[in-house]
Amino acid sequence: MDLILTNIGVLATPLGKQAQKGPAQQNIFLQEEMAVGMEGETIAWVGPARKAPKAKEVLDCRGGLVTPGLVDAHTHLTFGGWRHHEMAQKLAGMDYLDILRAGGGILSTVAATRAASLEELVEKGTQLLEEMLSFGTTTCEVKSGYGLSTQEELKQLQVTRSLGAIQPIELVSTFMGAHAIPAEYKENREGYLALLCDEMLPAVWESELAEYCDVFCETAVFSIEETRQILQRARELGFDLKGHMDEIDPIGGAELAGEMGLVSAEHLIQASDSGIQAMAKAGTVAVLLPCTSFYLDKPYARARDMIAAGTAVAVATDFNPGSSPNLNLQLAMNLACLKYKLTPAQALTAVTLNGAAAIGRAEQVGSIEVGKQADLLIWNAPDLDYIFYRYGSNLVNTVIKKGTVALTR
Ligand code: NIG
Ligand code: FE
Repeated sequence: MDLILTNIGVLATPLGKQAQKGPAQQNIFLQEEMAVGMEGETIAWVGPARKAPKAKEVLDCRGGLVTPGLVDAHTHLTFGGWRHHEMAQKLAGMDYLDILRAGGGILSTVAATRAASLEELVEKGTQLLEEMLSFGTTTCEVKSGYGLSTQEELKQLQVTRSLGAIQPIELVSTFMGAHAIPAEYKENREGYLALLCDEMLPAVWESELAEYCDVFCETAVFSIEETRQILQRARELGFDLKGHMDEIDPIGGAELAGEMGLVSAEHLIQASDSGIQAMAKAGTVAVLLPCTSFYLDKPYARARDMIAAGTAVAVATDFNPGSSPNLNLQLAMNLACLKYKLTPAQALTAVTLNGAAAIGRAEQVGSIEVGKQADLLIWNAPDLDYIFYRYGSNLVNTVIKKGTVALTR
């Protein structure tokens, strides 16, 4: 054995290689006096501490909680500028879609992202990922969608590719050219849809820079019919599919996600009962984003109803410069307990195995089991409840990525 973790206070992990739905979301492995051994990048042994095999290196967890590395299944990580100037508009009562309709919001970040060079975006992304790693994120999904032209979307996706190669967090790339109608197509929606379907999607697929395609299906953004058209085209090309659904207005996004069998539907604040049923039937993972509800002062998605219906729930940050300028997944975990009323066990599954399933990585990461990649966290916490009870502090002590200590604090 190369490395063994000893003196673990509690080992807490979901089990399996697929999303845990319904009652299974609660069924985690929770045990004291355990040890975990790693060989190279892989978990090679899990068992009672007294039976632990010899290893070249021993890491003393000093009685701390050990969990899988966190999986942030929904971020818009690469962008130019910030949007702190919207604070005054928000405080004056303008809401998220009003700001977007007035040409601000996503569109102001599009202007700033187009103005930034690839190198500048990589530099900025590197710093953000370093911060994310310190909060315990070891795998992260990254969406494009601030370029909104073929060339600028490819630039943004290239930034994600470069970032994946130069720092420890593994990145899963999603093309989101359907994030907004860019200013130059304001009077020509049809033109932008044609560009998306006939030029951007094929070019991105050809570039191999993205695995998933996502669409912002929302009032004043992309309608249900437009979303269906874009996702169908993406599916024909070979993309796996996601959707920003029913975030602000209930327009039937969850129903569409179920009908089309998307891998995941995200936000879902306003998802209807029939939409939730449709998703459960299709096995679509619900990626819920409590930091966005908090930041936009909107209701919280009905996480418990989704679990009761048999849908797998994942929780992510939605890190972006507008609706969720927070990259700390621990805060989303706190809100998942306090606002969604998930149990610590359900919430842990939501930010590990179910997050991994939402981005097609459940066979590799998301749980502490022999054969999985050795991505683990040692916490400054005596047990699982503690990390959901304390909030506002970074409780991660050590991050292990692919069997190597990536960070200790
Ligand atoms: O997930 N809803 C659409 N997209 C992002 C926000 C992006 C932005 O405001 O820049 C979200 O909330
Ligand atoms: Fe988002």
